[in-house]
Amino acid sequence: MKLIIDTDPGIDDAMAIAYAAAAPEIDLIGLTAVFGNTHVHQSSRNARFLQHKLGLDIPVAEGAATAIGRECHAPSEHVHGPEGFGDVTDIPEIGSNHPMPAAEFLVDMARQHKGELVVCAVGPLTNIAAAMRLDSEFAQNIKRLVVMGGAVYCPGNVTPHAEANIYHDAQAADEVFAAPPPTILVGLDVTLKTLYETADFQALAEQSPHMGGFLRDISRFYLKFYKEVGGLEGCGLHDSTAVIACTHEPMFEMVETGLTVVTEGEEIGATRPDPSRPTVRVCRDVDGAGVVRLFTERVASLP
Ligand code: BDR
Ligand code: CA
Repeated sequence: MKLIIDTDPGIDDAMAIAYAAAAPEIDLIGLTAVFGNTHVHQSSRNARFLQHKLGLDIPVAEGAATAIGRECHAPSEHVHGPEGFGDVTDIPEIGSNHPMPAAEFLVDMARQHKGELVVCAVGPLTNIAAAMRLDSEFAQNIKRLVVMGGAVYCPGNVTPHAEANIYHDAQAADEVFAAPPPTILVGLDVTLKTLYETADFQALAEQSPHMGGFLRDISRFYLKFYKEVGGLEGCGLHDSTAVIACTHEPMFEMVETGLTVVTEGEEIGATRPDPSRPTVRVCRDVDGAGVVRLFTERVASLP
């Protein structure tokens, strides 16, 4: 399956990219970077660093630096650290970005791989909305959009109403759900059922010293945040769960519904069922233990 990950790396983004690189069913053909957990120049630098560390040779296209029509919220430094990788702050610039901006690159890849390309968006939906604005056929050209975002039937994580990716650009998310491609939404409804604990990271690092060891090192900060804020013993495999939904749909229970995003006021970023909108598939439940197992199995096979 041809896959592009639109990402704001980000600790769990790094895990998702490692998973995609290790998964035999996935042909990862590019990464597009967006603001969110970090500023966009840090996202693209981190994406280039990761693809190099994983021994990939794929393009990284840099995209949106801010939300549509408004200044972006501050990066999520308290969750992902000052450079996006927790306590690991010395991240070299490796290579350079693809000459096309992310939205153009997405449009171009969707045309080249018409009907085949799956786009997994694990950051704010700004680049996806921009690709849809740029090419009215983008939504038809891709096979599927899989979004990590939203909290449809459960509380949010940045506010009681909103999940972080949708909150960072509620307008973009609302535009995407107004006329969506075939879409699966992987929100907090399921990703908080995929907790990855300190011992899981340790075991991963033992089997995969180079990549698993790196993920263990960057995750210490993230695990501390989950413990302090949520009293949780592990972190959600948010973005990896979305990548897994690209290839393992039977692990998820989904409902079909249209979605609206609240774009103003106190509840900004809330994702609400809306029967007047075209339907997307919203994940309501997941085999959480299965996701954790699959993640470990695949990433442990990396050096
Ligand atoms: C999402 O927000 C970001 O902090 C994570 O990388 C993930 O994509 C979880 O709400
Ligand atoms: Ca992310």
